Amino acid sequence: MKRANARPPQARQGATAPPPDAALAAELRPGQSVELLKELHILTRDGRLNQDSRRKLKQVHHLYQFIETLLLELPDQGAAATVADHGAGKSYLGFILHDLFFRPRGGGAIYGIETRAELVERSRALADRLGFSGMHFLALSVAESATSTALPEKIDMVTALHACDTATDDAIAFGLAKQARFMVLVPCCQAEVAASLRQNKALSLARTPLAELWRHPLHTREIGSQLTNVLRCLYLEACGYQVTVTELVGWEHSMKNELILARRTGHRKASAAQRLRALLAEFGLQELAARRFPALPPAGTAAGAAQEA
Ligand SMILES: C[S@@+](CC[C@H](N)C(=O)[O-])C[C@H]1O[C@@H](n2cnc3c(N)ncnc32)[C@H](O)[C@@H]1O
Repeated sequence: MKRANARPPQARQGATAPPPDAALAAELRPGQSVELLKELHILTRDGRLNQDSRRKLKQVHHLYQFIETLLLELPDQGAAATVADHGAGKSYLGFILHDLFFRPRGGGAIYGIETRAELVERSRALADRLGFSGMHFLALSVAESATSTALPEKIDMVTALHACDTATDDAIAFGLAKQARFMVLVPCCQAEVAASLRQNKALSLARTPLAELWRHPLHTREIGSQLTNVLRCLYLEACGYQVTVTELVGWEHSMKNELILARRTGHRKASAAQRLRALLAEFGLQELAARRFPALPPAGTAAGAAQEA
């Protein structure tokens, strides 16, 4: 039963607050589907935003702005672009990207790659319900997706938002294989480099005072994470990408707020390849070269200086 003294929403928000519809409209982008946001539980059933979902929406919109700018550089201003979203989870990003960018243009395709089959099923069902025919969801690991025939040979943009651990590295390998024009990466924590640093710690401490940087376990983790992203950037540059690293504003509460934007130029930077190899050697991480950076030109060759046509 309704409480007799329940105040209307306007009154609860104070006399100067805008009515709920206007307040909500201010948070949404033009033409944005309210139905989708309800389905994603960003909006409540009665169309309201709570504090958490307001923040989530702001974050995704912020990231969307970067993505939109890049997509507009593509032929036809990105109207027929293909995007692979790795470690898609519930596919907030994919759905909102489709809704804001591709739905109004009537084209494009987004492939959400996610290992958890139940999330893939849920996303498929939601895309069907909403008639988002340009969205495809594949229950695959990022590494598997690179050779899956369910994806097109060329992908214009790779996104990976907090894809766990080495899934970001796999997303980079995927982007290189697909010659993606753009990669938009927000790495999650990564344990592989820290594990290697830990394993070779005693040797490194004997060899260089630099090893003090990762002597304490907390520092091992922190520098491992920092170094991972530095190596990723150098690898991208060595493989023909121009890289920008920035902060994903709005994610201030999270430690994982580094945004790596990579744009394919075809110019393979030999100095980046050399630096990458030098850093691997300095940190005792040479074992990672073959596994994580297979496209590096062999050490000591001039191949890295070659420019692609
Ligand atoms: C932290 S969630 C991020 C989800 C989503 N991108 C977001 O930001 O809301 C990471 C997701 O990546 C998935 N994942 C982890 N490793 C993966 C891999 N190697 N291949 C595909 N998906 C992976 C997990 O199952 C999880 O759903």
